Amino acid sequence: MTANVSDATIRFGIIGPGRAGARFAEGLCGVPGATLTGVWSRNGDRARSYAERFSVPFVAQSLEELLASPIDAVYVATHPDSHAELACAALKAGKHVLCEKPAALNGAQVRRIVETATEHGRLFMEAMKPPFFPLYQRLRAHLAADPIGPVGYVRAGHCDSSRAPDYPLHFTELGGGGIMGIGPYEAFLALDWLGPLIHVQTMGRVSAAGVDTFALFQTEHRNGMAQLHTGLDLLSRGDALICGTTGYVTIHENWWNPVHATVVYGSGRKVELEVPYEHGGFNYETEHFCDLICQGKLESTEISHALSIGMAELLECARAALGVRFPGE
Ligand SMILES: NC(=O)c1ccc[n+]([C@@H]2O[C@H](COP(=O)([O-])OP(=O)(O)OC[C@H]3O[C@@H](n4cnc5c(N)ncnc54)[C@H](OP(=O)(O)O)[C@@H]3O)[C@@H](O)[C@H]2O)c1
Repeated sequence: MTANVSDATIRFGIIGPGRAGARFAEGLCGVPGATLTGVWSRNGDRARSYAERFSVPFVAQSLEELLASPIDAVYVATHPDSHAELACAALKAGKHVLCEKPAALNGAQVRRIVETATEHGRLFMEAMKPPFFPLYQRLRAHLAADPIGPVGYVRAGHCDSSRAPDYPLHFTELGGGGIMGIGPYEAFLALDWLGPLIHVQTMGRVSAAGVDTFALFQTEHRNGMAQLHTGLDLLSRGDALICGTTGYVTIHENWWNPVHATVVYGSGRKVELEVPYEHGGFNYETEHFCDLICQGKLESTEISHALSIGMAELLECARAALGVRFPGE
């Protein structure tokens, strides 16, 4: 049963205690009024060792047992192939859901999650970190006070060839590929600064396993255009460029965990913004999610349902042009 959370601690259960799950638990130390009370994994040893490492009191033997336990919210940290199924199961059980990015495999799946959340009156939010980082918030406030004019172009890219062959992004059946693994952040940046998507053009390479190992996608939005790239077989810097009519911003690498941005104006004036982050960075989105629960909200204004659907559709279009399809699509 979901507790009255208006002035209570938010109790999380986690599904999928892997790499992201560990960072979520580390971040939770920086979230006042939130605690991790349950964990479920298909692999019992993994769940037990996670519970021991992060002092989680309850190791569920099944998904049903976790969802029947006294938790208010579920953090879904499995691979994208199972996000929709698990998020919907948790929402139907009356739990609020914070789900790792990408929210699901495609736009239709994200729409299904959103419909389920609405039907069951529960909060659903995709765990998209960048907008909650202190630097990103400082940048927004700075540009509101000292603008660069309407933004019309965004460029962001990142390739990481250091991932081992067994890394989940190399597998089609898990919803892998650079577009799905790295692209969600870039889709967010383009949609955040340029508005809704109109059109996507993609070039790239696909592995023998059927996932994109390099992709260059250009997106046209209501307010401008973006050039984005992702890759698993090259190494590239992860900075981002945001151009307005009278100035531009560079968010320095790694831009999705932002700590440093440079704003340059037409006159040559430069403003350096530097704000560190704490507790690994997952804490900021989690704190926002907990605040929404306490306020009785069913949707984030920062990461709205429409934005999650928009990100999923952008990634889906980028994949489609390369012929990257997942089982069941
Ligand atoms: N926000 C960030 O900075 C960040 C960073 C890394 C990853 N991520 C995101 O987090 C998600 C997970 O990535 P990861 O790197 O953490 O993967 P990971 O280390 O492989 O962990 C995935 C976990 O999910 C479990 N799992 C997989 N499929 C499942 C299913 N169908 N049912 C139940 N459990 C399942 C796995 O457990 P068993 O296979 O042992 O059952 C494992 O515990 C991805 O969506 C990724 O994009 C986000």
